[in-house]
Amino acid sequence: MMVIRTSGDMELFAKTARKAGKKIAFVPTMGALHAGHQALFREARKHGDVVVASIYVNPRQFNDPEDFQKYARDLEGDLKKCEKEGVDAVFAPTDSDVYPAEDSSSEIPVPEVASRLEGASRPGHFDGVVAVVSRLFRIVHPHTAIFGLKDYQQVRVIEEMVAQQKMDVAILRHPTVREKDGLAMSSRNVRLTPQGRQKALIISKALKAAQYLFEKGERDAAVIRKKVEGAIVKEGLQIDYVAIVDATTLEDLPVIDRHALLAVAVFIDGVRLIDNGLLG
Ligand code: PAJ
Repeated sequence: MMVIRTSGDMELFAKTARKAGKKIAFVPTMGALHAGHQALFREARKHGDVVVASIYVNPRQFNDPEDFQKYARDLEGDLKKCEKEGVDAVFAPTDSDVYPAEDSSSEIPVPEVASRLEGASRPGHFDGVVAVVSRLFRIVHPHTAIFGLKDYQQVRVIEEMVAQQKMDVAILRHPTVREKDGLAMSSRNVRLTPQGRQKALIISKALKAAQYLFEKGERDAAVIRKKVEGAIVKEGLQIDYVAIVDATTLEDLPVIDRHALLAVAVFIDGVRLIDNGLLG
């Protein structure tokens, strides 16, 4: 496995692979790798001859400096996990490599789907995501990139960005990988106390209960939302949002008459966790 530290070397690696007729499958990450990321690497292998992962904690997408500071970092451990999953190259750049001072390329506009949910709660978050992913795409030049549905809105933002900018990369969605007890894997889970970790189970439980209500015929979004909110509050967690939205536009949906997404963001012990589930 190659560890590539500069954008010049990464561009060269991609160019050489492409010249040899190889397909590049790319998984961008911020490190602190867990089984969710590893599943993405394995999926990438199915779509590319060369699997590239990036590990870069992108300062621009953190609206909360404390969250950025406390974000788990373990490059050594991450590289081992990448190696184990058969990743061919890890791109682990520095800030100045991703955001060079002399870079005069125009900023890519943030698609409209970014304005709701995470975008509303974390101002500037998707500006940072769009900035970094568009740059990484330029440097890694992948044929395919794989994103996890745990960050459903991020996938939609990237899909829109790629469509609007006519970027020549196929975006693949990967289902959310969960712990055995249902908790969605997240790099932030390690910051939970044992009690917080236990309380966090209510998130996936409430999502499941909501899906059950939907399957039983409930179509009133307010009814389902209230159930979810009630369960979360009862467990003593602080809600950031519980929303039922159109799964494509992410606009609020009062009546669930189309493919919908139930999205949840909560705080536990000061750690912000998100999760979601599809309705229909
Ligand atoms: P990060 O949170 O490290 O996630 C990297 C990729 O792993 C994303 O596509 C994310 O959706 C996916 N992922 C995380 N947890 C997952 C889970 N439990 N199941 C399935 N997939 C999961 O998302 C980012 O980094 C950044 O915003 C990034 C795209 C790298 C830009 O900086």
